[in-house]
Amino acid sequence: MINFPVDTVYLESVDSTNSYLKRIIKENGLDAPMVVVTDNQLSGRGRLGRVWQSSPGESLCMSIALQNSYCEGFTLLVAVGVYEALKSICSENSLQIKWPNDIICGNKKLCGILCERVGAYTVIGIGVNVNNKIFDEEIAHKATSLRFLCGRCFDIKEIAKAVSESVFSVLSKSGGIFDKLHKETFESACANIGRCVAAEKFSGVAVGVDENGALLLDVQGETKKVTSGEVAMHGIY
Ligand code: BTN
Repeated sequence: MINFPVDTVYLESVDSTNSYLKRIIKENGLDAPMVVVTDNQLSGRGRLGRVWQSSPGESLCMSIALQNSYCEGFTLLVAVGVYEALKSICSENSLQIKWPNDIICGNKKLCGILCERVGAYTVIGIGVNVNNKIFDEEIAHKATSLRFLCGRCFDIKEIAKAVSESVFSVLSKSGGIFDKLHKETFESACANIGRCVAAEKFSGVAVGVDENGALLLDVQGETKKVTSGEVAMHGIY
């Protein structure tokens, strides 16, 4: 159960909002959920040890710390919350989720999510390209922003509020499991389903996700599970 209002801290700049919350958790613990927001993240971290690029004043970088909330399929539940918020903000029907938790439009990434666990706590890191109009050369072909999609700028704090409220709402409604309703929402938004997907060890057509959040692939008539790592789809990063 999450009691509102949740403490939200706005930082002028920080190395990484995820690292910031992890330091607080390790030093003092947290009595209640906490949200940290910045538009100037200096050393952002992505999934699989990657760097997360953001532009000062243009990108939303935020993290949410929760206690005793982790469950199987947790990162997919978070993706549903973020997806629903961004979809209603930009009235963009073509937003999709790329398994496990990227929010994309067409073949370009709008938002990335990094969930990290520290003991009984989970830190949910969310990076959204909001008002970006130029991306670094190496990501320019595979990144988009709300500004590109909607043709206008947005208030970064308002986006942060809408995203955190939507994530809290999904986590509360799901009752601590990757429930049927949110699994169905995930599947209907999932860009992988119905397409040929290459995982680390095998390739097949994505047919759904299971109750633990694994991506299910039909590999020559046999259903195989992808539980971690990255999947590649033709035409998408
Ligand atoms: C990914 O797609 O690889 C995940 C990107 C997650 C980026 C966010 S930005 C806010 C939070 N702080 C970080 O250092 N990373 C996450």
